Amino acid sequence: MRIVVIGADGQLGSDLVKTLARDEVSSLYYPDFDVTRPERMRSVLQGLRPAAVINTAAFHRVDECEDDPGSSFRVNAIAVRDLARLASELGFILVHFSTDYVFDGRKGAPYIESDAPNPLNVYAVSKLAGEYFVRSLAEKHFLIRTCGLFGEASCREKGYNFVDRMIALAEEGKPLRVVDDQWVTPTSAAELAERTSDLIRTDEYGLYHLTSEGQCTWFQFAQEAFSLLGRNPRLEPVDSKTFAAKARRPLYSVLENKRAKEIGLKDFSSWNNALRVYLEKKGLIPR
Ligand SMILES: NC(=O)c1ccc[n+]([C@@H]2O[C@H](COP(=O)([O-])OP(=O)(O)OC[C@H]3O[C@@H](n4cnc5c(N)ncnc54)[C@H](OP(=O)(O)O)[C@@H]3O)[C@@H](O)[C@H]2O)c1
Repeated sequence: MRIVVIGADGQLGSDLVKTLARDEVSSLYYPDFDVTRPERMRSVLQGLRPAAVINTAAFHRVDECEDDPGSSFRVNAIAVRDLARLASELGFILVHFSTDYVFDGRKGAPYIESDAPNPLNVYAVSKLAGEYFVRSLAEKHFLIRTCGLFGEASCREKGYNFVDRMIALAEEGKPLRVVDDQWVTPTSAAELAERTSDLIRTDEYGLYHLTSEGQCTWFQFAQEAFSLLGRNPRLEPVDSKTFAAKARRPLYSVLENKRAKEIGLKDFSSWNNALRVYLEKKGLIPR
């Protein structure tokens, strides 16, 4: 399959490129390929004539988005509109990623694809706007909401992923204050790449929740990482109010992979197992 990966050196993009090794993949990198430059985007994609374009580009430093809604909407919404238009015009399948943060958390139980979103921060509003553009403009699309990615390449936007950040802070001897009232599902970027690769070979287009299995708070996630590493740094659980981040976040944003299960996509592992595999692959614990 002829596939374009946008953001190919990002956390998810790197795992996608590895997973799609048997396909004819064109990897596109920022700033040479910038989704906020529609004319350049058109000419590059016209030249490549892909069957599918996978867009991993995002402006997702969530607290910064509060101060810079312009950049947030330019990358997460307007650029996605331009890409969705091109998808219909050039006839490619658009694969786009969104976030668990489109929900407000009040449900207190895993969210399924048909639950109504109600975003609490600028980042989430801009991602939801992007979702609507994909759904309304791209004839053939896979729109994938995911949560708390950890991948070997680490998150490019943030410069780290949560696990690496925790390990680095512990090594510096810094106190580790971690929120213990936000429930999520940390998700393996490697497994998400594999499921995405399987999904795009079907014609079951539409909206999907794709995350690892199970749920935990960020504090519990950090605890499990240190337990697997056999380390015992001083970890302090804090609540979101004490942490006082600029952007409001849902207290519960666990997603259920309902539709993926219905179409028979292979199940994800639990987040704990995926975390162990991640630490093994990084050489931080023995296999
Ligand atoms: N990370 C998470 O925990 C998480 C959770 C839920 C949903 N998601 C969604 O999952 C997707 C992938 O996340 P990720 O963690 O892989 O992100 P990432 O590591 O930050 O990767 C994003 C990639 O897009 C590139 N990019 C940034 N701005 C661009 C632009 N204007 N034009 C073209 N490329 C651009 C980046 O390049 P540079 O690095 O050179 O800027 C990077 O290669 C995003 O849509 C995100 O919203 C992520």
